[in-house]
Amino acid sequence: MKMIIASMLVLLYAGTGLAAGSPKPKCGELLLSRCQSCHYLERVCSQVGVKSKRRWKATLKRMVKRRGAELSGDEQEILVGCLTAPDPAIVKECSTP
Ligand code: HEC
Repeated sequence: MKMIIASMLVLLYAGTGLAAGSPKPKCGELLLSRCQSCHYLERVCSQVGVKSKRRWKATLKRMVKRRGAELSGDEQEILVGCLTAPDPAIVKECSTP
């Protein structure tokens, strides 16, 4: 009986976690999962730390609106930030051949 209650509590906890929304996606994951279905990451990587924030914003918008990339507004914000700054996760993905 104890086990059953314990597992029910776990399920309940997992359920509320989902309802509260999933944790923020990480930029490395976004880059890997959303940006290489149409072109090599090289296309992105060659401009990391080069393009200004404003231009990254415009690029991402174009990828979504005109090319068909799947990225929510929030996800665009996150990626713009870590492509401009460059985030260590992005640098790592970009230096892996
Ligand atoms: C559905 C297909 C598709 C996806 C997904 C996609 N792209 Fe692109 N991307 C393109 C095409 C087509 C081009 C070449 C034409 C152009 O530049 O608009 C391109 C070109 C680019 C360029 C070079 C041109 C420039 O303006 O610098 C960059 C940088 C880029 N993409 C970044 C990204 C990033 C970052 C992602 C992930 C958020 C992404 N792309 C996802 C289709 C896609």
